[in-house]
Amino acid sequence: MKEKVELILREAESEIEKVTKEADLLNVKSKLLGKSSKVNELMTDLKSMSIEEKKQYGRVINELKYDLEQMIQSKYNSLNTNEFLDFDHTLPSNQDHGSLHPVTIVSKEVTDILTKMGFIILNGPEMESEYYNFEALNIPKNHPARDMQDTFYLDNGLILRTHTSTNQVRGMEKYGAPIRLCAPGRCFRNENIDHSHDNTFFQLEGMVIDKNVSIGNLIYVMKELLDNVFKKDVKVRLRPGFFPFVEPGFELDCSCLICEGIGCPTCKGSGWIELCPCGMIHPNVLRMSGINPDEYNGFAFGMGLTRLAMMKYKIDDVRVLNSGDLMSLERFNLK
Ligand code: PHE
Repeated sequence: MKEKVELILREAESEIEKVTKEADLLNVKSKLLGKSSKVNELMTDLKSMSIEEKKQYGRVINELKYDLEQMIQSKYNSLNTNEFLDFDHTLPSNQDHGSLHPVTIVSKEVTDILTKMGFIILNGPEMESEYYNFEALNIPKNHPARDMQDTFYLDNGLILRTHTSTNQVRGMEKYGAPIRLCAPGRCFRNENIDHSHDNTFFQLEGMVIDKNVSIGNLIYVMKELLDNVFKKDVKVRLRPGFFPFVEPGFELDCSCLICEGIGCPTCKGSGWIELCPCGMIHPNVLRMSGINPDEYNGFAFGMGLTRLAMMKYKIDDVRVLNSGDLMSLERFNLK
């Protein structure tokens, strides 16, 4: 038996060695391991053996099969590597290179503009403590403002952040004042999903802290930003808005880009679109993160990147953006 096995192995070695094409290798494989192969003959011999012998020789035959398969596989690999070397890399490439996601594009545009104005970029975690998401932003436990931002409470005691404002606190703790930072990122809310609400969306936080910062500075930065994003003169206006971490707080509207301010279904006939909540940072927020509100003040804004992408690319259903549906994304032609 031992000699037979060795003979089969030696013959197989020289046959496999000679092979130069994948198709020939398949023939050799069926000759070595197929129905009328010598290995199969050995299996037939097994039938007439005692149980003890069967055990002993069965193992030898299995090892032989395994060795043969390995030899064939490694030959197969080497044939394919050579085929790869024959690949003509001067052929024209596939023209479809894909594209960046609309939110990625606007996020990059906004951060590019802000970094030119001296803002640093911060990336905080998506899984946050209640302290960074609420308490340090002047939203204590049981404050009704928590209702407006219901989220997903995790078993580990953390939550999925409801806004990028968490990075105001992280930035102040890490760098102190003065500071200019922006923080784009994914946020989560427990929402009923429809064409304009999703449980996952993108925001960009902006924050400036310095001496004698004014609401005029806030309006200037916002207008500069929007003019550059939309590449035209965008009108902005402020309305009062309530957020516990700013005082005074505002809703910043911009003139409707669809109808140029005349009034259309998108702006519900008003000519204005709500784009960006903002305000002057509340002294409690500064104090809690170790900045003296008598010395420094500042402003913050939370730009809705998902909404910005929808406006810029005229996307009327937010669900498209998180769907991973390439066909829908291709419609925007973002090459
Ligand atoms: N974080 C607020 C929200 O998501 C927006 C905001 C940011 C408001 C900064 C004021 C200042 O609703």
